[in-house]
Formats: sequence, structure tokens, C-alpha cells
Amino acid sequence: MGTTTIEVETSTNHHRHPKLEQWVAEMAQMCKPDRVYWCDGSPEEYKSLVRYLIMSGIGVPLNPEKRPNSVLVRSDPADVARVEDSTFICSRTKEDAGPTNNWEDPTKMKQKLAGFFAGSMVGRTMYVIPYSLGPIGSPTAKLGVEITDSTYVVVSMHIMSRVGTRVFETLGKDGEFVRGLHSVGDPLGPNQADSTWRCNSENKYICHFPETREIWSYGSGYGGNALLAKKCHALRIASVQARDEGWMAEHMLILKLISPSGQAKYMTGAFPSACGKTNLSMLIPTIPGWKVETIGDDIAWMKFGADGRLYAINPEYGFFGVAPGTSMKSNANAMLSITHDAIFTNCAMTLDGDVWWEGMTDQKPAHLVDWLRRRWTPESGRKAAHPNARFTAHASQCPVIAPEWEDPKGVPIDAILFGGRRAGIVPLVTEAFDWQHGTFLGSTVSSETTAASIGQVGRLRRDPMAMLPFCGYHMGDYFAHWLKIGAQSTASKLPKVFYVNWFRQDKNGKFLWPGYGENSRVLRWIFERCDGKVHAKDTPIGRIPEVANLDTTGLDITSDQVNELLAVDIDGWLAEVPSIKEHFAQFGTHLPEGLNTEVKALESRLRAAKR
Ligand code: OXD
Ligand code: MN
Repeated sequence: MGTTTIEVETSTNHHRHPKLEQWVAEMAQMCKPDRVYWCDGSPEEYKSLVRYLIMSGIGVPLNPEKRPNSVLVRSDPADVARVEDSTFICSRTKEDAGPTNNWEDPTKMKQKLAGFFAGSMVGRTMYVIPYSLGPIGSPTAKLGVEITDSTYVVVSMHIMSRVGTRVFETLGKDGEFVRGLHSVGDPLGPNQADSTWRCNSENKYICHFPETREIWSYGSGYGGNALLAKKCHALRIASVQARDEGWMAEHMLILKLISPSGQAKYMTGAFPSACGKTNLSMLIPTIPGWKVETIGDDIAWMKFGADGRLYAINPEYGFFGVAPGTSMKSNANAMLSITHDAIFTNCAMTLDGDVWWEGMTDQKPAHLVDWLRRRWTPESGRKAAHPNARFTAHASQCPVIAPEWEDPKGVPIDAILFGGRRAGIVPLVTEAFDWQHGTFLGSTVSSETTAASIGQVGRLRRDPMAMLPFCGYHMGDYFAHWLKIGAQSTASKLPKVFYVNWFRQDKNGKFLWPGYGENSRVLRWIFERCDGKVHAKDTPIGRIPEVANLDTTGLDITSDQVNELLAVDIDGWLAEVPSIKEHFAQFGTHLPEGLNTEVKALESRLRAAKR
């Protein structure tokens, strides 16, 4: 470990879990690290490893007067985001991975990867990080162990997951755990210093072996590729665990909405990226007396309680949020969560040692060091922070974190929200008729790409339940699992399902809805629907608010605009039906009959409305 004070321990020191020890020994034999270090998860360990990042030049300490105990890390330009093209579900059969995942035979893939992992940790430390997804001891929590050669991954895991000795204790002698092996794929030569972000610029593989509950990730040190507890375990492997055990692992925020009289309802929400999931989870309502508290911003695990209701936990421990666009205006609670003890990745740096990104302030700083360590001024004509620059901070630092966010039994879910970015057709809010119809709405989630991200404005991408890159098995079977969950309880106990669209535009391409804190008006209607307090209009696509029931007091919006936001465009929807059928066709015989029934029913309701 060069100049740091970290002690090197061997695997025989304090563990009595023979299968874990054997696995670590086998992986060490393959990867050939200089040493093996078992993480205890202590604050001292965190500090010491951050110090290593700084002393080695991988991280830069931020000005303690501006951003205490915080560090900025800049990655290799070839390692800045999740790599969906190199992400594989290596189930025994291709059929099980389904049409939406890359697949390779598990034996072949392991052979190939073993070649890459052989000697991949030479010169490095192999860290063994035990983690718990969910509060330790929660009946919904799952354990895993990540082996990694990246110090950045260890410190990030300290924030994103519950890690360390208490997890070893919970594992006991023979507890089950998901095995995650990760290497940046860049061994150090005899006289080579570990001085910058390392990765393998040629080969990146993020592979999941669902049957054996294993993850092998090679070549990238970034986010979801490397923090294996997050997308790889908490979504891809967990979705398989959930299917096998009868619960749900979803790409959803969890929020608590509190009415002026103090009554609370819990909602989860699945939205494709760039639709404001973190913002919604921490929203500051504009309607007097209403409050939102946060339980989670990215992942929800839901399981039935003895009372037949679905209870959700946030399996994570922190936020790994996209920095650009985050400001005191767009998400004050996120900004307040990262004022100290945070890790920043690929942000720009100010001359007084703080971080900056596009959208953080109205006024751009006159001088910066950009994420590629170059001098930057507003005239540079390029972005100062990478568009996927991130902040990492403990969830407990969020000013509106709900007091019960770590309740081991979870919170009872009243409503599930789906949504995407659609300029036309999709109303501000639609309530599903029932669970099967709600599953149908989720299975058809669609979002238009923005000019900023893809360049082709308005291209429609279907992202069922926002799980397209995260479902660890056949998406058709995943839909069937949703229907099976619905059949396990009664309608009155199941969450109501809603579809929202904050992005509807008028004929001139102007957003009809102000969004952000004003979304609380829609959440309020959902809250009141859950209580059965307000009436909703049946339409061919679902239930829509009566205009009078959507609270628009104090909003600069005309009744024509509200009518347009809530309008059901029958012709537009009829034109949408073939695209839904085409989307469903890819799932072949795996598409559950219930969803076929729903698309046919939608079409006939639309045709009837046209007559
Ligand atoms: C994320 C994602 O980083 O969904 O949360 O890509
Ligand atoms: Mn996500």
C-alpha cells in the first residue's frame, strides 16, 4: 500500500466461513494480488483509504472550508459510464436471458474471463468487502461479498452499502452470499506507481451468472460497472433472487408524502434515466402543509408483509447521483446532502478547491479546472464536468431522509408510479384500473431521448419498468412475475399503480407543466385517490383526474392548459397500439397472456371511444 498505514491481513485472521475463505483464496490464486485485505468497514479504514487515494494522486482533497472531508476523483476518459454493450447475463440458456440482454454461455464466459483475471491484480491489494443490501438483519436484506483491486471502489462501497465486520458476523459460518469479483484489469509493473485512475481501455466485461449468484466485472472502475452491490447485485442478480423467492427488486425511488394533517403515504417510482428520479425522491412540495421525505432514490426491494401489503426497503446506504443539473433550484436536498463527507467523480474543480458542474449555479465560474484537468473558462466551448459526473454521499446526510428509512421491515407501499419523458399523448397522470393494467402500463414505459443525450430528438425507447438494462432474466418472465405478485394479495391491499408524464408539450413545443416542486400537486391527487377521497374519470387508457380535483392554486396555468395536460388523444393512442404490439412481440411465448389481454382491451376501448 505504498505510504499508507493500512495493515495487511491474510484470510486466516478473523473469518470462520470456510466457503468464503476458500473462494477468496481461489480468486487470489487466479488474480495474484500482492496482498489480501479484509475490510472492516470502520471510519478509520475509510479515512485511511481516502488518504491513500490522495497520496497516490488518484484523488484530490477538496478545500475543507468549502467541502469538509470530501474528495474529487477524475477517471480515465475511457471509463466514464455504465457499459451496456459489454454487460452480459450468462444464464445457462440464452432463452433465460431473453431478448433484451446480451448473453454468453456461462462456462465459455468464465473461461474467457479467467484469462483476463489471471494476474490482473499483480502489484495491487485485493480488498474483500462484505456488504449487506438492506438494513442488517432485515428479513428482506441480502448479503454479498465484493472482491476488488480498486481503492476507489472500497471507499465508494463504504458510502453506498453497509459494509464490514458486522456483515461478516451476520454471515456467520455458512451464511449465503452473492460472490462479486472485480478488477480494473491493469496490473502494476515492478516499478510502476498507482498514480491515476486505472482501467482496461480495450476489454470491459460486466458479467452476471444468475444461477450461481455470481458477478465477474473486469476492466472498468466506474459506478455501476464496479460498485457491484448496486446495479449488478441489487437489480440484476436480485431480480432473479426475487423471482425465485416471491418478492420484487425494482429500479424505483421510495418517497413518503405527508399531508397537512400528518397522514403519511409511501410511494415508489420507476423512471428511465434523465426523468428526475432523484429530484422526485427529495422534492420540496409547493402546496402548503405538504411534505416529502426520502427513503431511497434508485432501488426498491418489495416483499409482502403478514398483512398482505407490499413493504419496501431501500437496499442501498447512499446516493450515487448525477451531478450536472443538480442545483439549489432543481434539488436543494441533494445539494445539502453533499456539503461534506462526499466523493465527487469527474466534476470540475474551482480555483478555491471546491467542485462545480453545469447547472450548479446560474453564473458560470470565470476559471475552473475541468474534469480532464485542463484549464477551463466559459469561453472554452466545452463542458467543465463530464455529463455523467457523480456525487456519492450517505443517505443519512439528506436533510429530508425519513426517520424510518432503515426500518428493517420496510414501509408499506400505497402507490407505484411509472413515468417517462413524452412530448405528446401521455397525460400528466393516469391511474391504472387494477394491478394487471398497472403491470401493462409499467411494461410499456417509454421515453423520448433528448437532443443532449443521443442527438436524435424524440426517438422513442421502451424501457419496461425502467428495468431494460437491469433485469437479470427474460423480460417476458419478469412481466409474468409482476402478475404473479398481484395474484398473491387482494386488490384493496395492493398498491395502486399510476403513470405520470411531467413532460407533455403544447403545439409550440412548450412544456405544459412546470415540474419540480409543483409535481407535489400530482402526488397529492395520487394520495387522495389512495384514500378514495377524490373521483376519477374512466377513459380508454385509464383513470384521469377531474380538472377541478387537480390543485392548481397559485400556479400560472390556464384551464385550457390543464385540459390539454389531462386530455386523452384517442387517435394518438390508436397510433401507439402497433408500437406496443411490436414491443410485446419480441417476448414471444414468454409474454404473459394477461398483457396480451390488456393491449387488446386498450385497442377495443379506444375504437369504441372513436365511434
Ligand atoms: C443509475 C442509472 O446510475 O440508472 O442510477 O444508470
Ligand atoms: Mn438508476
